[in-house]
Amino acid sequence: MFLTKLEEKMLSGEYGEAVALAMKVIVKVGESLGAEKLVKVRHVHVSGVSYSNIGEPGARFIEKLARLGGRVSVYTTSNPTCVDLYGLTRIFDEKLVMGQKKINSALEKMGISSSYTCIPYLINKPDVGEHLAWGESNAVAMANSVYGARTNREGGPLTLLAAIAGRTSYAGLHLMENRVARTLVEYTVSSKLDDYWGSLLGLYIGDNISDIPFVKGFGEASFLGVKELLASAAATGSHGLVVLNGITPRESYSLDINEKIVVDEKELRNYKDKISTQYDSKGYVLAYVGCPHLTLNELNKLANLVSRYTRIKSNVKFLVTIPYMYKGVVDDIVTILRKKGIEVAYGTCPIVSRLREKPDLVVTNSGKALFYLKKLHGLEVSLASIENMVKEVMAK
Ligand code: F3S
Repeated sequence: MFLTKLEEKMLSGEYGEAVALAMKVIVKVGESLGAEKLVKVRHVHVSGVSYSNIGEPGARFIEKLARLGGRVSVYTTSNPTCVDLYGLTRIFDEKLVMGQKKINSALEKMGISSSYTCIPYLINKPDVGEHLAWGESNAVAMANSVYGARTNREGGPLTLLAAIAGRTSYAGLHLMENRVARTLVEYTVSSKLDDYWGSLLGLYIGDNISDIPFVKGFGEASFLGVKELLASAAATGSHGLVVLNGITPRESYSLDINEKIVVDEKELRNYKDKISTQYDSKGYVLAYVGCPHLTLNELNKLANLVSRYTRIKSNVKFLVTIPYMYKGVVDDIVTILRKKGIEVAYGTCPIVSRLREKPDLVVTNSGKALFYLKKLHGLEVSLASIENMVKEVMAK
């Protein structure tokens, strides 16, 4: 692999042990991917920071990097952790707080912004063609598919190393020659592409298409609908790029269509019956919104929706997850939601955390949450739009 003079010095240890370690791993990974060189990145988003997921071995690795003097050399944000950092809700198991605090303090020592969110594109909007090293799958899909930026889905430890080195392998979706959509997805559902249809379509694409899809045929699409579509496709199918006709910047992909599939309403409804549990209001129901974390607009919309109701039904808990850095910015909205009995957690989510009590059913508007709550936590999950969820779980 070609390295610049500076990169050779970084690798040889002239810039300290942490930089040398980062370069050693990045070069090794790059060589295994066939990369000819490294590429500088403007923004790194670190994933794999939840103590619930990575445990002591992961915490030790992050602490070691901090101890070796590892400091980020580019703007770096971090994914959610397993702790409700402001402690407003009691929904999560608090046994992991100490372990998580060790990780957070090492991350912050390395200069990583304490954003703790999975929507880094709203903190620092990517530009078309710019190179990033992001680790959170939904964020990667948004960066490539909505903003036309270039990032692979980096593994958690690799994102930390990329943040220290300020570089990653010039391979995969960093190269235009790999940003080619080959399967046309003709979407014929006439309803607006909202959170519900976006989640279903994304899960379906991830389950049925292995190369880069080119989706056309949808009319109006909400930002939330697109966000849920991409998060869901990245969950079931590891898609880092889903080309959305009219949304994905034209200069960021090319087309070489050799297959076409039609996705109609009947097909998606049948698919939904297979993957989503029928909604049943008996037992303890957890209503969950905020995977990926809610934007300010979405939080406002939720506050408007719930304003027509007085309270949550007695067998329901309603959880909303938002970025850690919203504290102080959305206090008014959070107060409104909490007055209705809705729990708001900053900087975490139930997928990267552990619930204190197992619900009989989760109802969510997120295809990604549905996929992982079933797969990783063994829960029954029902998919519904945010409007239908609120109607179902709240009382006038
Ligand atoms: Fe974010 Fe957790 Fe979903 S990290 S994308 S809310 S699984």
